[in-house]
Amino acid sequence: MRYRILKQEGRAKRAELETVHGTVQTPLFMNVGTVAAIKGAVATSDLEQIKTQVELSNTYHLHVRPGDKIIRQLGGLHKFMSWDRPILTDSGGFQVFSLAGLRKIKEEGVYFRSHIDGRKIFMGPEESMQIQSNLGSTIAMAFDECAPSRADRSYVQASVDRTARWLERCKKEMARLNSLEDTINREQLLFGINQGAIYPDIRIEHAKRISEMELDGYAVGGLAVGETHEEMYHILDQVVPFLPKDKPAYLMGVGTPANILEGVERGIDFFDCVYPTRNGRHGHLYTNQGKINLFNAKYELDDRPIEEGCGCPACRRYSRAYIRHLLKAKEMLGMRLCVLHNLYFYNTMMEEIRDALDEGRFAEYKKRKLTGINPLDQ
Ligand code: GUN
Ligand code: ZN
Repeated sequence: MRYRILKQEGRAKRAELETVHGTVQTPLFMNVGTVAAIKGAVATSDLEQIKTQVELSNTYHLHVRPGDKIIRQLGGLHKFMSWDRPILTDSGGFQVFSLAGLRKIKEEGVYFRSHIDGRKIFMGPEESMQIQSNLGSTIAMAFDECAPSRADRSYVQASVDRTARWLERCKKEMARLNSLEDTINREQLLFGINQGAIYPDIRIEHAKRISEMELDGYAVGGLAVGETHEEMYHILDQVVPFLPKDKPAYLMGVGTPANILEGVERGIDFFDCVYPTRNGRHGHLYTNQGKINLFNAKYELDDRPIEEGCGCPACRRYSRAYIRHLLKAKEMLGMRLCVLHNLYFYNTMMEEIRDALDEGRFAEYKKRKLTGINPLDQ
């Protein structure tokens, strides 16, 4: 792996990351395909057209169905979904806490029940690394606990300490798996995850501790889980300076276009979020004048594209009126076009951010972008 900073503006970084699945340009937005599918009938061939650089899938979901051992037998996740560029897999920690039933957290890991069939499952750091190794993703995430943002201080401190011990185990297990001859991706990268809810001192102490561990990248987790945007920005202001600058930084599960602009300003390279796909499936579309809802009656006779000048597969060919009709008729094509537009909007914004950083005008770009979009739009 090689991470190279190409340009800086304040704390904002413009960088590139070389991986076995190709080089990516940051800051970037990862397109979420939880179960190895971007929701909204988006094919991997579409991703090539909408400027996707990294696809993100979930350890927990793929372990439950179809099973990581099956994917391994089929040659790994890249081959399975026919995508040869980078894939990041989330570790399962977060999904276990947000989805699975009846969980019990112990030092060794988490006992829980599958949200699909209720069967009992155990996942600890070693299991998470083994599953991600079977998937053969480009980047594996450490197994962590994402404590609720309002959890009390003593709970958060104990949880963060355990997450730090889990990280040591993840690193050791990943090294072992990468040394095995028959491992699908023997150069799998490992990113650690900073936690600590809204307690700056706990977060900073944890950030210092994981920074000493020589990982391939560092994520800030446990945000966008109920705290305000201002609280999130404040935490980034305090924590990012304690993460190694010469490694990629990833803000997990974030966020709105405004959140991303604020994250870039604070030194973040990687983002991911379900908003563009989820909103697209509901006919909510991002434009440079703010979000629009195609179910609104005023679009019935609107023969303009979703956004004038947009190069996405929806805008190049179809009108708002037609896509609105498809959505109302519950035709799959309606959702699909909306999701393609929204992902293209996000990926294009990231491209604009990179261009602005290259030319030393990010601050100006950010200001201008924020006057068009509504910063409160999700
Ligand atoms: N996705 C969004 N937030 C988190 C987090 O805190 N941990 C993990 N593993 N995934 C996330
Ligand atoms: Zn478009």
